[in-house]
Amino acid sequence: MEMTKNKIELISLKSDNLKSEHFANDILDGLSKKQKTIPSIYFYDKKGSEIFENICYLDEYYQTRAEAQILEKFSEKIATNSSKDTDIIELGSGSSVKTRILLDAYILKNGYVNYFPIDISGKFLLESSQLLSESLPGLNINPIAARYNAGLEYIFSKNDKSPKLVLWLGSSIGNLNKDESTSFLRNINSIFKENDRILIGMDLKKDRQTLENAYNDSLNITAEFNLNLLSRINSELSGQFDLSNFKHRAVYNEEKGKIEMHLVSLTKQDVFIGALNKSFHFEKDEYIHTENSYKYNFEDILNLAKDSGFKLTNHWLDDKNLFSLNEFIKK
Ligand code: AVJ
Repeated sequence: MEMTKNKIELISLKSDNLKSEHFANDILDGLSKKQKTIPSIYFYDKKGSEIFENICYLDEYYQTRAEAQILEKFSEKIATNSSKDTDIIELGSGSSVKTRILLDAYILKNGYVNYFPIDISGKFLLESSQLLSESLPGLNINPIAARYNAGLEYIFSKNDKSPKLVLWLGSSIGNLNKDESTSFLRNINSIFKENDRILIGMDLKKDRQTLENAYNDSLNITAEFNLNLLSRINSELSGQFDLSNFKHRAVYNEEKGKIEMHLVSLTKQDVFIGALNKSFHFEKDEYIHTENSYKYNFEDILNLAKDSGFKLTNHWLDDKNLFSLNEFIKK
């Protein structure tokens, strides 16, 4: 007997700001600044999402394993403490590998779960949703290709009664600085009802070596991830970056509590980008800032909750105290 494949429908909210004009504009803006910069959201085309998946399996990248361990330990409790009709919404779901642990717990308890993964890489999202639903009976999956705000607005505008559990795992919050994360969480707070909650994975401040190793892996996968930004400009905007003229760098800025990723120009060079009809000059050692990854301590987490109108109701750690999973509910 042939198995019928569940047809999954992808809701695509790309009309807002995922289009290529926006990519072109943001690259023009970013590379015209005194300190050149590329927004880290552009890491995640299909290729970049795949490379990030590989990062998650690296020995040095402890974050994924630590968070999975926390989920293994507490998923049953999380599922047991929430009502049957909870909608699980995930920001930046990627492959959903870790989320599966939590989805399993809900399905075990209730026989089914409603899951709304939101991700900017539509192709990657559709593929992972297909795989997930084939292997997880009881999963009602509604993938949404969108940026966070558009996806959330879409879901919350339905105005139904189901309590919402928002997942923001993997330390994705690390890409935002204090003001950005506070204002994003305030916005979430304003659309939340009383019984809604958010679980936020946050990487913890720790020794420089462990942090820098996580972003300078010995297999150079993180370098590939970083340099993929330039490949993307080459293929989507007819750029002429020679990737061998740039090198990956990641350093811990202890004062600001963040890892910074850079692409450092190895020579003095000019790079033409066809779609912008413009050349960009690089001095030797000049760099493009490509990512911030903020790290937290307990006090930072409490302050963030307070400043965004939430209270911290759970703070779970892995057994080596490397990573935290935090539950915020409306104050
Ligand atoms: C997906 C933003 C959480 O900051 O650790 C991994 C991205 N960059 N290695 C992180 C990333 C380089 C990752 N986040």
